[in-house]
This record gives sequence, structure tokens and C-alpha cells, in this order.
Amino acid sequence: MVTDDPDDVTEQARDASPTTWELFRRFADDPPPVPPRPGDPPRTAEQRLAYHSRFVTVRTPAVVKTLLEVRTLMALGRHQQATARPSLIVTGPPTTGKTTTLLEVGRTCHLAEQARGGHGASQVPVAYLLVPPGATAKALALEFARYLGIPVSARMTQTQIAASVCHTYNTVGVRLVMIDEIHRLNPRTSTGAEAADFLKDLTERISATFVYAGIDVTTTALFTGTAGAQLAGRAGLIDCAPLPAVARTSRTGPGASATARGPGSSDDRSGGSEGPAGSQSNTRRGRNGSSADGADSRNSAGESRRGTVLIRPFRETVAAMENALDLQHHRSGSLVRLAPYLHERTAGRIGSLSRLLRRAAITAILDQSEKITRASLDAIALDHLAEEHYRPRPPIRRTSRTNAPGRRAT
Ligand SMILES: Nc1ncnc2c1ncn2[C@@H]1O[C@H](COP(=O)(O)OP(=O)(O)O)[C@@H](O)[C@H]1O
Ligand SMILES: [Mg+2]
Repeated sequence: MVTDDPDDVTEQARDASPTTWELFRRFADDPPPVPPRPGDPPRTAEQRLAYHSRFVTVRTPAVVKTLLEVRTLMALGRHQQATARPSLIVTGPPTTGKTTTLLEVGRTCHLAEQARGGHGASQVPVAYLLVPPGATAKALALEFARYLGIPVSARMTQTQIAASVCHTYNTVGVRLVMIDEIHRLNPRTSTGAEAADFLKDLTERISATFVYAGIDVTTTALFTGTAGAQLAGRAGLIDCAPLPAVARTSRTGPGASATARGPGSSDDRSGGSEGPAGSQSNTRRGRNGSSADGADSRNSAGESRRGTVLIRPFRETVAAMENALDLQHHRSGSLVRLAPYLHERTAGRIGSLSRLLRRAAITAILDQSEKITRASLDAIALDHLAEEHYRPRPPIRRTSRTNAPGRRAT
């Protein structure tokens, strides 16, 4: 059914968080939406509505950097026993793509393990959990149990649940544990400190690499308190900041806006423009032959000079999304030209950008204009955060030619 409300269409396909193995496997095995390719038969309006409502995942600098870091940490930790392996925290303001980054990494890891197959391959390579609001240690233990469907009775103590969780996670061979919304853990409170201690204990008992994501965690108690510091202190950091508008000089390739430090940080110079080898993420070719992979299109937005890459992550992301549009009359390149305007409207937050472009594309299909223009973008109200930030400038009054410097009024 084709609904007339773009918001309905946009939100319809937002999947619930894949916080059980069954849901995660379905998410990871589900082929990502494919942008139109030359020679493909045209898709129906309904198919295109569904396509734009999910839309592509762009390999932003943070995605590329996190993939590389996680692969490095997993390789480092593979044969390490007894002590906790080094971990990673993806941090940044809301709607900057932290969860998407985590899930993309999880999907890549899951598919790589599937491709490896054979004897010794993990049955359940990846776990993805959310920290529940006001989490206690027991609530966290239950989240771990729920992911794998481990039976828990009301009489079981937290210690018993933890033992069962660690045993099962190690038996099925979980290699990567991803914990989202880590900012909900507040080690300044006694329950929060207990929960942080419990998590640290699990990192020592489960033979997996732990990756966390949370809102601006460096300013929270997770980094400043003692209990939190035990957990966060050994973690590397990926900064999932809003995408900067301007070109900046970097020695690090496409990972430039994602900084990583701490134990296990990989050598930045290895970042390159290809992303991690063997990556299974949805790099697809758009209509004009460019990639939906924002990270490897540096020729369009930057230049490489002996290890120094000038990148414009925001522009590249706009280009990647524009190339992935499936609209019949859209003028290719018109959105890239509007990049400064789009940056002003979205403050460089990929969540607001994606929402704006997906809404505009869906409206363009429903009203049959089949293109996105400055006027159609102007007509869309964004989330409160973005609208607060955006103050349209008054139109610049053109100086009449006769008053221009060097010309005399007659
Ligand atoms: N790499 C990406 N490519 C395309 N869209 C993205 C990407 N990262 C985030 N988004 C969009 O932004 C929205 C918010 O991202 P999310 O990962 O939930 O942010 P956060 O976890 O930082 O709040 C997502 O629903 C998605 O539509
Ligand atoms: Mg999130």
C-alpha cells in the first residue's frame, strides 16, 4: 500500500534493535538496500518508497575507522587468555551514527565468520545488547541471557546467571560483544558502579572483544569515576562527531574525523582509502558509477598527495547519498552543490541529513516531481535539534550594478 504521509513511510521500516541472536542474524543476513544500477529494470513507486525509507548505509570515516579498529582488536585478543582484552568505545552526540556504526561492524564480522565457515567457525560470532535505563548488574546479566535465549529462573542469583552467561557465550564462540547506550551506566551511583564492575568482570570471563557506544561518554562518570575508569580506562575511543563541512588536512586517510586512541589503536597510516580488507558492507555503484561508499570516493572530494589526504566528509556523504537516490528526474550533482546549505540545516549530523534526504525523496515520489530541489528541502521541517541550530540567513541584497565599486552613478 502506498501511504500519503512521508513520515509514515520513512518510519515504517525502522527496525527494532536486534537485541536477540535471532533478530541480529536476521538483520545481518538481510541484504542491504541496493541503489539503482545501470541496466536494471525501473522499480515501481512502491518499491522505491520502501527503498528510500531504509536507504543505504554510507561508509563514513567513523564506520571505516571502527571496522579497522575492531578487526585489529579481535586479531590481538584472539589468543589472549585470562585478562580482559582491549576494548573500544564509540562516542559522540546523539544521531551521529554510533548505533549504525556498531551494527555495520557487527554485520561485517558476522558475514566474515559465515564466509570462513567450516570446523571451528563460531556458531554465534556477534552479540548486540542495549544497557537498560538505570541498569543494575542483574538487569545487565539478564540482557546477556536474553540475547542467547539462556533460560533463567526467578530463583537464580546474579552470580548463577553470570556463570551460565559466560559458559554459554564461550561455548557458542561469541567473538564480538557490542553494548549500546553505555552512557546509561552511571558508576557514580552504587547500582551503576556494581553494574560497571559486573561488566568488567564479564570482559575478563568471556573470550570476546567488547565494543561500546554511548552519548558523549568522555564527559560522563564512566570516564571520571573509579568504577567506570576500570571499564573505560582500557578502551580505545572512536569519536563519532558531526561531519565537518570544510576540507581538512589529514595524514590518516578517510578515518580522519574518527580519532582512535588507547590500547590496540591501529596505526593510522594503514587507514588507506579502501577500508578494511574483506569488508562486507554495502558498497554499491550508483547510477553514475560512483560509490555509495563515502570513504572511497576521495577523487570527487579530495586529493591525495603523498600520504596526505584532503577530505570533506560531509560533502562525500552527501555525494554518496545523492548517488544512491532512485528518482526519475533528479539532476545528479545538485545536492552536492547544496552541501553548504545542507550542512547548515543538519549541523553535520548524519541522522538529520539522512532523515532530510529520505523524506525529500519520498515526497518527490508521492508528488511525482521525482527530484529533490532547494525548495523541496526548504519545505521539510527537521527534528528539533537541527531546526534549533538552523537559522536561515536573510537573502543577500544584490548591490545594483550601477552602485558597484568602480562604477559611477550617472
Ligand atoms: N553511515 C550511515 N549511512 C547512512 N545513514 C546513516 C549512517 N549513520 C547513521 N545514519 C542515519 O542516521 C540515523 C541515526 O543514526 P544512529 O546510528 O541511530 O545515531 P546515534 O546512535 O549516534 O544516535 C539512522 O537512523 C540512519 O538513518
Ligand atoms: Mg544510538
